[in-house]
Amino acid sequence: MTVELTINGNKIRAQPGQTVLEAAAENGITIPTLCYHKDLTPVGSCRLCNVKVDGWGRDVASCTLEVQEGMVVHTETPALAEARRKVLELLLYHYHDAGYAEGDRQETEFSHWVKFYGAQLPAGVESQVRYEVDSDPNPFVWVDLNKCILCTRCVRACAEIQCRFVWGVGERGPEAKIIAGPDTTMLESRCESCGACVAYCPTGALDDKLSVGLGTADKVVTTTCPYCGVGCNFDLHVQDQRIIRVTENPEAPVNGMHLCVKGRYGYDFVHHSDRLTRPMVREYLLQGEAKERGADRGAWVEVDWDTALDITAQNLARICHESGPDAVGVLSSAKCTNEENYLVQKFARQVIGTHNIDHCARLCHSSTVAGLSMCFGSGAMTNTMADILDKAGSMLIIGSNTTEQHPVFGTFIRGAVLERDVKLVVADPRAIDITEFAVLHLQQKPGTDVALINGLMHLILREGWHDQDFIHERTEGFAVLRETLEKYPPGVVSEITGVPAQDLVRAAEILALYKPMAVIFAMGITQHTTGVLNVLSLGNLQMLLGNVGVEGGGVNPLRGQNNVQGACDVGALVNVFPGYQRVTDAHAREKLQQALALQDPEGRAIAPLFGHEPGLTVVEMIHEAKKGHVRGLYIMGENPMMTDPDVNYVRECLKAAEFIVLQEIFPSETSAYADVLLPGATWAEKSGTFTNTERRVQLVRPAVDSPGEARQDWIITASLAQKLLALRGR
Ligand code: FES
Repeated sequence: MTVELTINGNKIRAQPGQTVLEAAAENGITIPTLCYHKDLTPVGSCRLCNVKVDGWGRDVASCTLEVQEGMVVHTETPALAEARRKVLELLLYHYHDAGYAEGDRQETEFSHWVKFYGAQLPAGVESQVRYEVDSDPNPFVWVDLNKCILCTRCVRACAEIQCRFVWGVGERGPEAKIIAGPDTTMLESRCESCGACVAYCPTGALDDKLSVGLGTADKVVTTTCPYCGVGCNFDLHVQDQRIIRVTENPEAPVNGMHLCVKGRYGYDFVHHSDRLTRPMVREYLLQGEAKERGADRGAWVEVDWDTALDITAQNLARICHESGPDAVGVLSSAKCTNEENYLVQKFARQVIGTHNIDHCARLCHSSTVAGLSMCFGSGAMTNTMADILDKAGSMLIIGSNTTEQHPVFGTFIRGAVLERDVKLVVADPRAIDITEFAVLHLQQKPGTDVALINGLMHLILREGWHDQDFIHERTEGFAVLRETLEKYPPGVVSEITGVPAQDLVRAAEILALYKPMAVIFAMGITQHTTGVLNVLSLGNLQMLLGNVGVEGGGVNPLRGQNNVQGACDVGALVNVFPGYQRVTDAHAREKLQQALALQDPEGRAIAPLFGHEPGLTVVEMIHEAKKGHVRGLYIMGENPMMTDPDVNYVRECLKAAEFIVLQEIFPSETSAYADVLLPGATWAEKSGTFTNTERRVQLVRPAVDSPGEARQDWIITASLAQKLLALRGR
């Protein structure tokens, strides 16, 4: 059933419940708005969208007016234009533009309509400065209440989009104004600096502090965020090769209008003066001197790319020749693109000839990959984020500080709780932020996760809440699990975990009865000695409840870095080729050998045969350096000094390594132990793809040039490979 109405003489059909504004927009008719935004609850306060309806005695706000059968609407008449001009002029009385916002934000929605309807203050009347400009100390959000028209879009954006409730309206009458919390600063009001209020402000009263006064962009480039695994898209605004602003892109498939403080405001590192801009080698390498192991590596000398790559290739080739390819370790980077990671694992396997290729996934989610592979044959999220948010009846978050580590997804979860009344259970030793939205917080002692999950499963079985059909048709080993679970009655589990028995019972009931239930977890349970068992236990829980293979359910690891999923997928791991084909599988080795065979000009194979044993992990590589078994390290975008828990030991290991090549964007803690420093590019300077936590592959597009002589990482790796192969061909 549709509703037929007439707008500006055109008969149109609309859905029942649609507003006149929505129906008009769908048919290409623009009605001016200020307080309305399609993402926010309409409040109908500014009256700019008023329309005339035949037979009605007064004009009506179209943003809150539902379509009615036979309705005849006029959106632009001389009287409406005059009324709109008056509305805008009334707003102008309290509006003062100090003129700081040049360029991008000069034309706001408000100034557009002011111009369009020719609104202006009467001659002789001047707008007054009523508030301090830049009145809030928030480092990212610029507040100028002189430009506020009290449309309350910021208030609604903070409540409905970010679910944070920082902004409100204080005072009354002419004194009414937007306030943060109880009229204090934004940060004191628990602002997360996500910038949603800026994104929805139609006047520039709220603006991006880092961008104010920077003028207009030459170009806008849509790309993918370099921070976490959520995989937000946004627009980089670029002026003279500098990023001057980041804005949301409403078409972004994962995040839409949402961004977090990191994505929106964490871009200044791209132009930081500490960036590496020229290749550097230690002086001893230029003088042909031998270096004593463990000695200070000496002064850095800037060199050209050819010199740096020649020295690197010669030293890696020498180590390979003297001690074999497994004396070289290669570290890839979850911050780099899929293409670069693919190339680096090819470099390790084909050019060097070793499976000693690994990256930080080993330290964060390798237990996830192992556990989920054992459970389901695949080490990744079983469901998408949107699917969980739209369909889950309940959620168990365990070991994930979601609003800090994956802020946009954390915000979406808050929204699902508020809008759909999803029952959220959080299991975490700490009272993390998301617990405010939980119906239950289980504060287990650190390291007791398996007992906790077994305890929940014990209760689910005891109460008969398990899915017998699913277990019968799609699982194996149930009898063994049942026997194990008998040992975990609430009293015992409470003793082990510190969680009160009645909370265990309540949690089991919520998670079992509000179906489907989605499990969401991260490094809070995977970076344990029992990480794999933790993941396996979560797999068991979901299979027990039949929550696998269903919308809104599943076992869902949130991957940490922006491309840690992709770096694993393309084979930057010691035990698998691209696509998780095991190096221990002779068939996979043979297939890859043929597909990736390198030949010299005479057609002879020059790549070594792939080994049948997995290589050394990131931790083993570093530790083996101390023993002299790993003599050379090629490190792309990784900082072992900061990723191993025993920094002092890593320092000794790196000191002992004979030759370290570090490809980085900044000097890091590791560069003190490097022999060659190769300046790489940030994500804003390169092409490629990132794969997010739900395995969505998204484009990364170059927006600015790299500083100095810095190069995209894939170009450096490819150049180094050519040099090494040329040496081997001799
Ligand atoms: Fe409809 Fe403001 S846009 S009343």
